[in-house]
Amino acid sequence: MSDRTSPSNNVVTLRWQDRKLEMIDQRVLPARFEYLVYDSAAAVAEGIRSMVVRGAPAIGCAAAYGVALEAIRLQGGLAEKFNSGLEQGFEDLAQSRPTAVNLFWALARMRRVWDGIQGAPLAEVAERLLQEAHEVLAEDIRINRAMGEFGAALLPDGARVLTHCNAGALATAGHGTALGVIRSARDAGKKISVIADETRPFLQGARLTAWEMVQEHIPVTLIADNMAGFLMSRGEIDAVVVGTDRVAANGDVANKIGTYMVAVLAQRHGIPFYVACPLSTIDLTLTSGKKIPIEERAATEVTGFRDCQWAAEGVAVRNPAFDITPAELVTALITEKGVVAAPDAAKIRALFV
Ligand code: MRU
Repeated sequence: MSDRTSPSNNVVTLRWQDRKLEMIDQRVLPARFEYLVYDSAAAVAEGIRSMVVRGAPAIGCAAAYGVALEAIRLQGGLAEKFNSGLEQGFEDLAQSRPTAVNLFWALARMRRVWDGIQGAPLAEVAERLLQEAHEVLAEDIRINRAMGEFGAALLPDGARVLTHCNAGALATAGHGTALGVIRSARDAGKKISVIADETRPFLQGARLTAWEMVQEHIPVTLIADNMAGFLMSRGEIDAVVVGTDRVAANGDVANKIGTYMVAVLAQRHGIPFYVACPLSTIDLTLTSGKKIPIEERAATEVTGFRDCQWAAEGVAVRNPAFDITPAELVTALITEKGVVAAPDAAKIRALFV
């Protein structure tokens, strides 16, 4: 085990230390492993916007702590200032990124707690919000482990599993969603190997998924995104497992740009396409994937990487960060309540009763 992992062999993406939030700076992995320290909602919002922390469940956890930090910061002042300052904190966090619904789910949960304790001494309110943030984080790990067990049963011994982006411990409070399935299958004694799409343009696969798997000695092979079809056509991929940022009520899946392409290829080659999806990622208010807001990111991510820009100056660029995989291409959703094969609106609704 590496010194970067917890005793449960897990990367600790967010941690509460000295009454502050610490988050691994995922922008500089794997070249550097370091934590940045956060003490306000505005700072956490900036950490989310700038991709220090990313991945839907991890963003939700960070937002919950952002609210708690703001309450702690304001608890020594007047109630009026506390209320307006905390409102602003909620607003800053809500504006940080648009697609991952876990962000809004976590903020709604924190608001319910705040509503339930209005009028209490400010220090008590802050403490209650902090407890809730701790609970969001602990619950996320429990959920990932439950999904992992359900998902592991779907993978045959010896499976070669393609994944896209990073839906690992780094994208969650621990264990991961898609990589959680792989970890759980490995823990169950199965010999699993991973094929990681590099995931242009932000390289979450090359920089983060490959790093996580190498840390834990899970065999991993890195490919450029345009190689997946070739490997499938040669019979070198047995299953696809990805995470998701938002699932609409009809089962359409928003995930990292390129996921749709992988799903189409998987269908063409008769390969199962699984989506690891905690219930906190399902948005029952949106009837179809077409309604999911898709973040557009900076052109410089496409014209180059960091300081190295290789495309012609002035070229027009599109940079949607997510795409929609229609439900009909999804073999099954893996949730903490079980596996939902061929997801549709009725099966998704049934998860919430
Ligand atoms: O832009 P990112 O890195 O936040 O995108 C992350 C993804 O698309 C993940 O696959 C998704 O959030 C699931 S994480 C368990």
